[in-house]
Amino acid sequence: MRGMIGDPPNFARDLPKAELHLHIEGTLEPELMFELARRNAVPLPYASVEDVRQAYVFSDLQSFLDIYYAGCRVLLKEQDFYDLTWAYLTRAAGQGVRHAEIFFDPQTHTDRGVPFETVIAGIHRALEDGRGRLDISSGLILCFLRHLSADAAMQTLANAMQYREWIVGVGLDSSEVGHPPSKFRAVFDRAREVGLLPVAHAGEEGPPDYIWEALDVLQARRIDHGVRCAEDERLIGRLVEGKIPLTVCPLSNVKLGVFPTLQQHNLKQLLHRGLMVTVNSDDPAYFGGYVGDTFQAAAAALPLSRADLVTLARNSFQASFLPEEQKRAHLDALRRFVDQPSLKTIS
Ligand code: HPA
Ligand code: ZN
Repeated sequence: MRGMIGDPPNFARDLPKAELHLHIEGTLEPELMFELARRNAVPLPYASVEDVRQAYVFSDLQSFLDIYYAGCRVLLKEQDFYDLTWAYLTRAAGQGVRHAEIFFDPQTHTDRGVPFETVIAGIHRALEDGRGRLDISSGLILCFLRHLSADAAMQTLANAMQYREWIVGVGLDSSEVGHPPSKFRAVFDRAREVGLLPVAHAGEEGPPDYIWEALDVLQARRIDHGVRCAEDERLIGRLVEGKIPLTVCPLSNVKLGVFPTLQQHNLKQLLHRGLMVTVNSDDPAYFGGYVGDTFQAAAAALPLSRADLVTLARNSFQASFLPEEQKRAHLDALRRFVDQPSLKTIS
């Protein structure tokens, strides 16, 4: 219903935006998990979709990762990766997403015997359809699992080189504490040599020092999460001065105990200190909301003003890896959306 788009109650949800912190494996909804389990004859430790949802209670990052990696076992065929990615894109399209830079974790699949090609071909085909049928542009970011070895990461990068033109960047995810960014210096050096843009999860559960390492050792162009930068004044100065974006995921942070409640999340403080903050969903099937839902929830809880929300949407395009003229086109479209006469009355 085109006429409803942008009505004040849905302003935050419908704002045109880019999503920059989204793990495609984290978009596996319980319904699709059951469907793929049936299709592939993979036994599940759950009796029903409701049973799955009830299992999604986490105490920290590791307790989530254990369940998240287990869920990935239903993903076996190219079509499975296509269906997963297409389901994400259709949901995202309904929440204002015009561009998505999507993480995938090849090692989660290759270590189970699923070929790299199967994973990337299914995701890539869905992203192409997203471009053609939903008008969502996208980029793919290959993440290394930091709980595995640096050598395994290097091997993964070597496997990826055949698909170099399908990938825009490299990232670092999984269990943070005990696996500092510096462990992956060599593979990030190599990735940058071939023109892949580096990002890294840092300062989610790990200390501010890991954010320094992501910047200084890996030369990360964005920090994923990064919320623990608030503990280090000098680091805040560096992030502000360098205009380094933080891809913040407020619903994820509450579900994994990084903040006790959404009201206590530091997103608004970071934004008002001049950091280039963006809002993202991380693993929406597990954390209770896609990116538009996340904008809405944060807007209500913190609260965020209309100006804050527009800044966050603007930042999402500015922090993306899109070419400058495409950023400008998105920012123009955002301005037109905000200037709609029907939206003039809300504050
Ligand atoms: N942190 C680290 N690894 C992850 C996450 C996260 O939030 N989501 C999926 N893998
Ligand atoms: Zn993440």
